[in-house]
Amino acid sequence: MNQITLINGDGIGPEISDAVVKIIEASGLKINWDVQSAGADVVDTEGSPLPQRVIDSVKRNKVALKAPVTTPIGKGFRSVNVQLRKSLDLYANVRPCKNLPDIKTKFSHVDIVVVRENTEDLYAGLERKVDENTAESIKLITRGASERICRFAFEYALKNNRHEVCVVTKANIMKVSDGLFLDCFRNVSKDYHDINTREILVDNLCMQLVQNPSQFDVLVLPNLYGDIVSDLCAGLIGGLGVAQGANIGDEYAVFEPVHGSAPDIQGQNKANPTALLLSAIEMLKYINKKDYAFKIKNALYKTFEQSKFTVDLGGNLSTTEFTNAIIQNLNQ
Ligand code: NAI
Repeated sequence: MNQITLINGDGIGPEISDAVVKIIEASGLKINWDVQSAGADVVDTEGSPLPQRVIDSVKRNKVALKAPVTTPIGKGFRSVNVQLRKSLDLYANVRPCKNLPDIKTKFSHVDIVVVRENTEDLYAGLERKVDENTAESIKLITRGASERICRFAFEYALKNNRHEVCVVTKANIMKVSDGLFLDCFRNVSKDYHDINTREILVDNLCMQLVQNPSQFDVLVLPNLYGDIVSDLCAGLIGGLGVAQGANIGDEYAVFEPVHGSAPDIQGQNKANPTALLLSAIEMLKYINKKDYAFKIKNALYKTFEQSKFTVDLGGNLSTTEFTNAIIQNLNQ
């Protein structure tokens, strides 16, 4: 039986994890979930929000499904998400954004894949208070990490029949750091003659995305721009409730939605499990369970086609009702 780490998170994490586990179980696929808690709830008992046992579990199983974990703003522990990505060298954050059936959005031909560098940039955690009124944060960009993520984006484009990779920077202002990222992109692109390339500044990208998103194919970005742009892209296809993601490294992969722990709707049976479910579907493809992945995806799409939606998508179904509707469609 497949053993997979399940980090069920906090906030809405446990609610949507339960939903996804039930749906996978109903598909007939047997998975031995190695459930690992992390975040604020375990700090008191284990002294860390990301105990070593969580990392060891992913190392053992090679693959994890992860629900969101809260990160306190401004103080407290360092983000579990950032730490996990760094500890396992999950250097590529892949976030496909494609219209889903019957979800009404402003644009109907969105099919963008955001490839975000996941280990450095302003998320390296190199910041300090210089004095009472001054703080500084180091934007770390290295040739190694930048070439690696650009190569990943081109390889992804090749394997997935994509035609263009567009690099996103602010190299006109941050000539040295973003300039290095751009230089790496240009170098790597020389090995991929069949893929078109494009260069755009991040501010212009944002404007173009909200006016004409279908012009974009694969985007590759340093960490911070990738984080922000992927939420923007999520908005184009119906919001965070449907935006999937994956953190991929050479040895391990952790599949997780773009969204956070949504404390504003925690415990209300309102959360949309779709983003975690789509992430799990990608995970099933990754572990070569493609039949189950397609079966679950068809059931999800059928549920949307029946106009069954959670509240975030304008519907009136609770998490439980939406989950049951998918399970019913699996069994038909
Ligand atoms: P958020 O993504 O949790 O929520 C933003 C808005 O989207 C909220 O109104 C929320 O109700 C809604 N939303 C999000 N997911 C939804 C879903 N599945 N169904 C229905 N509505 C949904 O972002 P926020 O509020 O900025 O962050 C909350 C916490 O999550 C923070 O501590 C943040 O650090 C953490 N976070 C964790 C991530 C992770 O574990 N990978 C990623 C992003 C944020």
